[in-house]
Amino acid sequence: MSGDPHPIDERGRSPRVILVSGKGGVGKTTFASSTGVACARRGLRTMVMSVDIAHSLSDSFGLTEHLLNIHGGRPYRIADNLDIQEVDLQAEIKQHWGDLYGSLSTLLKSSGMNNVLAEELAILPGMPEVVCLLYISKYLRENTYDVIVLDCAPTGESMRFISLPSTIEWSLQKVYKLKENVPSIAQPLLRIMGVTPIGDLEELEKFRSIYTHLNSIRETLLDTAITSVRLVCTPEKMVINETLRAYMYFCLYGMNVDMVLINKIVPDEANNGYFDQMVKDQAGYIDEINSHFQPAKTLQVRSFSREVIGLKSLESMACDIFGNHAPNAIFSEEPPYQFEDINGDKLLRIKLPSVNKEHIELFNDREYLVVRVGNFKRHVCLPRMFLNMKPCVANFNDGWLSIRFADAG
Ligand SMILES: Nc1ncnc2c1ncn2[C@@H]1O[C@H](COP(=O)(O)OP(=O)(O)O)[C@@H](O)[C@H]1O
Ligand SMILES: [Mg+2]
Repeated sequence: MSGDPHPIDERGRSPRVILVSGKGGVGKTTFASSTGVACARRGLRTMVMSVDIAHSLSDSFGLTEHLLNIHGGRPYRIADNLDIQEVDLQAEIKQHWGDLYGSLSTLLKSSGMNNVLAEELAILPGMPEVVCLLYISKYLRENTYDVIVLDCAPTGESMRFISLPSTIEWSLQKVYKLKENVPSIAQPLLRIMGVTPIGDLEELEKFRSIYTHLNSIRETLLDTAITSVRLVCTPEKMVINETLRAYMYFCLYGMNVDMVLINKIVPDEANNGYFDQMVKDQAGYIDEINSHFQPAKTLQVRSFSREVIGLKSLESMACDIFGNHAPNAIFSEEPPYQFEDINGDKLLRIKLPSVNKEHIELFNDREYLVVRVGNFKRHVCLPRMFLNMKPCVANFNDGWLSIRFADAG
């Protein structure tokens, strides 16, 4: 197909895992669904899975009844080649961690905690994400789908998805600590109540083995030939800031953000004077997005005259977004920047178009580093470690600008 940057990806490269993230309400679920519809229409076996506890795939596809009710958390065939799934977390957690979950919630209740709260807290951090990851792993292993699109929770929470290994350590420590803190008198009591005290080694080993197994999925998520993150944003200041932060985190974790969708742009036909100022503001923000998120590809889509719900609307939105591009293409594989700590020297390396070093301007703007070179301007959201440090140019080599950060004092 002419104009297609990666025609080979259309069918050649599979499987693909596409993670859709972004601030709340910007159109993640809608974009994940329309990407799924577009892939399925091209003959790719596609799954759109909700990784957000606030499931809304059923709404997006215009189902009158909730997927969980009609299909109990299993994949649901909504069109040719297209399955959608909203995982039933409580059921899955009970199935995978039944004993551990039961012991933990009983222990929390026995410490005087409100029952509902105890049940809630017994879901350890990471469990919901793990359930979804186990499904992804299964689908990849069994080659069930060519494309798996993940509709993620708002940015902050979807970070948990990719930071599992550290979460795991933390969870295990929490479990061990709880065990130590149970006064010896509570142990026989628990036994009378029929609860295996936590610390039952077999149980913990089971827990640990699930997590070990997850490491291989982590490799899949970090493999740029398989997984990409797509960020959805709207042309608004606060949204852009949060999206930049997400971009930085995904980059820190070594994941590939290949595309940013700018959603809800005021269309020409709606611009009858009333939206004049908004149209101007949006144009400015669109320029900013195009430059700040390089080298990720930016695609745009207008605000439709009504909510985008149901297969037909989702497909027409996908046509507007992807045009001739294959929806499963890998739009960019280049990391936008790298943060390094070499013997205590904090370095930021940014890929820049060819520039003259003399013309590089650097300044801090709160949590951002602003890099300006002629017309080119890039906002880089800085990790905490780099805040309160002063940037200075170290060198510019092979298209990479290295910036060294020194203590402000
Ligand atoms: N381009 C668009 N035009 C019109 N409505 C849209 C568009 N994109 C999303 N919407 C609507 O905005 C609302 C929020 O979208 P949703 O995908 O649920 O956001 P998120 O998943 O990020 O919270 C939904 O009602 C959806 O139909
Ligand atoms: Mg959503």
